[in-house]
Amino acid sequence: MIRFRPLSMVPIALYACAKPDPTPTWTGEVAPIIADHCAICHRDGGVAPYAFTDYTQAVALAASMPSVLQSGFMPPWRADASCRSYADDLALSADDQATIIGWATGGTPLGDGVDSAEPGAYGITSIDAILALTTPWTPVETPDEERCFLFPYEGGDGFVTGLWADPGDPQEVELVRAFVVAPADLGPWEALDDTDPADGWSCGGDPGGNALPTTWLGTWTPGEKHGDFPAGTGIPIAAGSKVGVQIHYHVATGRPDSFAMELSLASTVEHRASWVTVADPTWPAGITVPAGSTGAAFTYEDVVSSAVTVYAAEPVERDFGTAATLDSSAGCLVDVPAWDPDWQRAYAFSTPQSLAAGDTVDVTCTYANPGATDVLGGDGPGQETCRGMLYATTN
Ligand code: HEC
Repeated sequence: MIRFRPLSMVPIALYACAKPDPTPTWTGEVAPIIADHCAICHRDGGVAPYAFTDYTQAVALAASMPSVLQSGFMPPWRADASCRSYADDLALSADDQATIIGWATGGTPLGDGVDSAEPGAYGITSIDAILALTTPWTPVETPDEERCFLFPYEGGDGFVTGLWADPGDPQEVELVRAFVVAPADLGPWEALDDTDPADGWSCGGDPGGNALPTTWLGTWTPGEKHGDFPAGTGIPIAAGSKVGVQIHYHVATGRPDSFAMELSLASTVEHRASWVTVADPTWPAGITVPAGSTGAAFTYEDVVSSAVTVYAAEPVERDFGTAATLDSSAGCLVDVPAWDPDWQRAYAFSTPQSLAAGDTVDVTCTYANPGATDVLGGDGPGQETCRGMLYATTN
């Protein structure tokens, strides 16, 4: 026989819910949010100058938290959530933001749980090759330095299935792009490398100076959690290739950096992938941002020639960018409404986007130039560029 729960229980439960929420505690509500949204950067060895993965460290920063959260300065995740959802999204929900602020302004209670906001596992699942500088590099160019290095690839024909950068000085490295140079193309790349007797070469913008074809492996930025490429996909690499890295350094510290790049490798994959560039072929030369202008925008539309699946998107501009969008006729790919050159990155989709033949993909870059002279298109300091990068497989 089935017994029914007496209805009189219900009003009691409702009454209990109506009590005002107590101040959130560090171990109860706050540390898990910090672990998910902040700790990948705010840990020992992270990009941020302050770690707060335990209570004492977090209390020391608590007074600064409300203003940096309310202004949107932190966490530095610039993709708009209304476009689509992303893997490892660092953005805070309104509730989570209110929880941290409530704790920070409510006496920072400890709670009685476990005192840890460590970020959990990060990096790549399998480290199959490590490409490391033999001599640490000390960046010197101001205000920023972009330096390229070529590393020999010792493995056989196969696929790169993940990448992770391990900067010796995490606070000095803003962005890393990796690319493959096939054996047949090595000559001009090695000549570029030889232009500077020191290790590597100075390489703003396109590492091949817009002249050499570049097979991108991907981008690594501080704040990324996982460097594995989407399951079943990989980018081809041939025995005898070299792997190039372009490191964007903040030079303020002036410290030597013992940079290393880690790769995951596989001999076969289900789907061969590549980074596809969406950009007007006349760019960056065809871009001019007029002196004293705001809102100058450049748009380019490509028509998809055969069906592809897109797993990640990265818009690219430089310091004069104010917004960047990658859209498609099948759905929004990434929208960065307030471009922030310090926090550009590739955004991995939670769910891949299929594009059919005939679908369109658009990139739009918007700029502001407060100066008295036009900003010209190019890859050097003080110039501007615009492109969209898509990690895609053909179906
Ligand atoms: C992607 C990396 C990253 C993430 C994620 C991140 N931060 Fe930061 N945070 C930084 C860096 C780098 C700085 C130093 C910025 C500077 O000095 O310009 C910083 C600075 C701060 C500061 C100090 C600001 C000051 O007063 O100078 C606070 C407070 C802060 N972050 C809180 C948070 C909180 C809370 C979260 C999570 C909700 C978070 N951050 C997520 C990288 C990050």
